[in-house]
Amino acid sequence: MSKQRILSGMRPTGPLHLGNLHGALANWKEMQETFDCFFFIADWHALTSDYEDTGKVDSYREEMLIDWLSVGLDPNKCTFFIQSHVKEHAELFLLLSMITPVPWLERNPTYKEQIIQIENKDLSTFGFLGYPVLQAADIIMYKAHGVPVGIDQVPHVELTREIVRRFNYIFGEVFVEPKAILTETPKILGADNRKMSKSYGNAIYLADSPDVVASKVSEMITDPQRMRKKDPGDPDICNVFSFHKLYSSQDVVDQMNRECRSAEIGCVQCKKLMAANLVAHLEPIYEKRLHFASNRDEVRDIILAGGEKAREVARATMEEVRAAVKI
Ligand code: TRP
Ligand code: SF4
Repeated sequence: MSKQRILSGMRPTGPLHLGNLHGALANWKEMQETFDCFFFIADWHALTSDYEDTGKVDSYREEMLIDWLSVGLDPNKCTFFIQSHVKEHAELFLLLSMITPVPWLERNPTYKEQIIQIENKDLSTFGFLGYPVLQAADIIMYKAHGVPVGIDQVPHVELTREIVRRFNYIFGEVFVEPKAILTETPKILGADNRKMSKSYGNAIYLADSPDVVASKVSEMITDPQRMRKKDPGDPDICNVFSFHKLYSSQDVVDQMNRECRSAEIGCVQCKKLMAANLVAHLEPIYEKRLHFASNRDEVRDIILAGGEKAREVARATMEEVRAAVKI
């Protein structure tokens, strides 16, 4: 029996952080062991809101692939490619846009939310409204069964299913309806206790050096009631303690728990221990990054080979599509 196909993508908008590591990337790594995985860099999607500022897209694409490879995503198990390398996505997007009612797009919760919330960008474009149609093309081009995504992307996968039903109804059964596979994300908070996010400037990146990690950890908010070392603290409301639970041994976690409450250990010390364990956790990632960052030709070969493989599938799908649409 052939493996079920999984597809997911990320927009190349900057380096990946611990939130991405424990969310999407951990999930993808697990999936590469059992599924036929297609993971791609959605560079056209990055233009839907940032069309005036495209200067960094090229380097972000490469850095993103290096992030993926350095956490252990494996080109022998997955197909990695860049969306714009497979022009068939644009053709399918165009055909799907012919049959997608505009009200479906205007009702999209992600769209409505972003129109209200994001003020510093021009979102009044056709491309931004059509974002989910391009995403639908990305997904169904490969006849993916499952789409691992965060909760914010579920409406887009739902819309994809609706578009598939409409296409199949009009032109005959060409596509399969994909299912969203919800990525479980442990809540990783940034140094300021808000959700870790690039846009909040509170993230620890996979590429941060040990020194940078230590300095970011030293700035983390702790138990706000604990002003001095002699005040007992409450680890249960401290983000540093949450990080200990992710990166330290059970013994150390128990020790911090005890010694914080009894005021035997100070926050500075507690943070130093945590930072060291976090850096140890990142060590294998640093090592792989070093390899790929100094072998950029290898990275480019991976992306070219992946694009070739993706294009083969896309070409076959588009032949079927053109026959169905009779154009
Ligand atoms: N919209 C997704 C995001 O912002 C990225 C994306 C584009 C995607 N096309 C996709 C994700 C297809 C899954 C499948 O995260
Ligand atoms: Fe948080 Fe550690 Fe300070 Fe306790 S000792 S408040 S767990 S940083």
